[in-house]
Amino acid sequence: MSNTIDTILKQVNLSKEDIIRLLQTNKEDRNKIFTHAAKVKAEYVGRKVYYRGLIEMSNICSKNCYYCGIRLDNKNVERYDISDSNIIDAARFAHKNNYGSIVLQAGEIISPKFTKRISNLLKQIKEISNNKLGITISLGEQPDEVYKEWFESGAHRYLLRIESSNPDLYYKLHPKDKKHDFETRLSCLKSLQKIGYQTGTGVMIGLPFQTYEDLANDLFFMKDFDIDMCGMGPYIEHNETPLYEYKDLLMPIDDRFTLTLKMIALLRILMKDINIAAATALQAINPIGREKAIKVGANIIMPNVTPGMYRNSYKLYENKPCTDEEAADCTNCMEMRIGITGDEIGYNEWGDSKHFEKRRS
Ligand code: 5AD
Ligand code: SF4
Ligand code: FES
Repeated sequence: MSNTIDTILKQVNLSKEDIIRLLQTNKEDRNKIFTHAAKVKAEYVGRKVYYRGLIEMSNICSKNCYYCGIRLDNKNVERYDISDSNIIDAARFAHKNNYGSIVLQAGEIISPKFTKRISNLLKQIKEISNNKLGITISLGEQPDEVYKEWFESGAHRYLLRIESSNPDLYYKLHPKDKKHDFETRLSCLKSLQKIGYQTGTGVMIGLPFQTYEDLANDLFFMKDFDIDMCGMGPYIEHNETPLYEYKDLLMPIDDRFTLTLKMIALLRILMKDINIAAATALQAINPIGREKAIKVGANIIMPNVTPGMYRNSYKLYENKPCTDEEAADCTNCMEMRIGITGDEIGYNEWGDSKHFEKRRS
């Protein structure tokens, strides 16, 4: 049995059956996958972790994803929208602390006013950092012109998770309406890639109704799509959302955690030179969850630089870490955390996806 895992890992091309098999491994075999992924990471992207200072600028959202704590219909959330000057301050903080990049994230809003506001923010962030801060944005589905405007204003990476590459499962997680259309999500991803963004996507792991085959297909979806970056994390139920109803169908939370680590390791093996984030949701389950992800293939971490007073309100899922600290605390804490992994921190570097660089040249 264990020999077979060794044999599978030696293959150049893994089949769907191989991946499903690897996703179901026990502890001893699982460690073989992790060790292999760590080697691939060291060889192809190096043992360096890049920071993306995360600014959760607003929890106002026009959508109703069934799993998400800040969905439109959740009336128990106190909505906030951080002022532009506070956002710029957070970016300045990241820059001063030698973070190479930031991520601007918010709920999904489509409006000319919002488009303009983001464009201005992007230009200002470029200005205050002398063009030094790399900017990733994660602002959902937008018209092509908006994606273009933001790209021209200075954003060069975009994160838009597909959540699940299986349309049937997608519609169990989202209302089946025009606002939550699987095909639109796909075409947005394609536009982002075409416009020239480093394009990132990802899925949630351990969802109700999700099978191992779905997860294997998710990995192949990312490979076929030729993504540059990935952020994927465990699904964590939120009791103020409709999907909470299916909590009894879920695998134990520790298994969702381990399965996420396996997904990260396998993606590293399949797509050797992309950027893979150690999702914050991992730390909601295990105090050193993100460090474990770095050990098995992740090379990006997103320290929260959102002003402390807002952090408690950006609760997509329960038990979110770093929600009552001030930004400075995360920086120190993070340095210590990465130290434990034995990796180096890529201070003052953008840490672009090597895959993107190759894809372009
Ligand atoms: N558990 C885990 N991840 C979640 N997200 C939203 N809600 C949850 C949840 N309950 C993730 C989605 C989304 C990203 C911003 O956060 O994948 O794309
Ligand atoms: Fe809005 Fe994103 Fe939450 Fe969906 S996952 S409800 S788009 S913030
Ligand atoms: Fe945020 Fe430790 S990383 S408090």
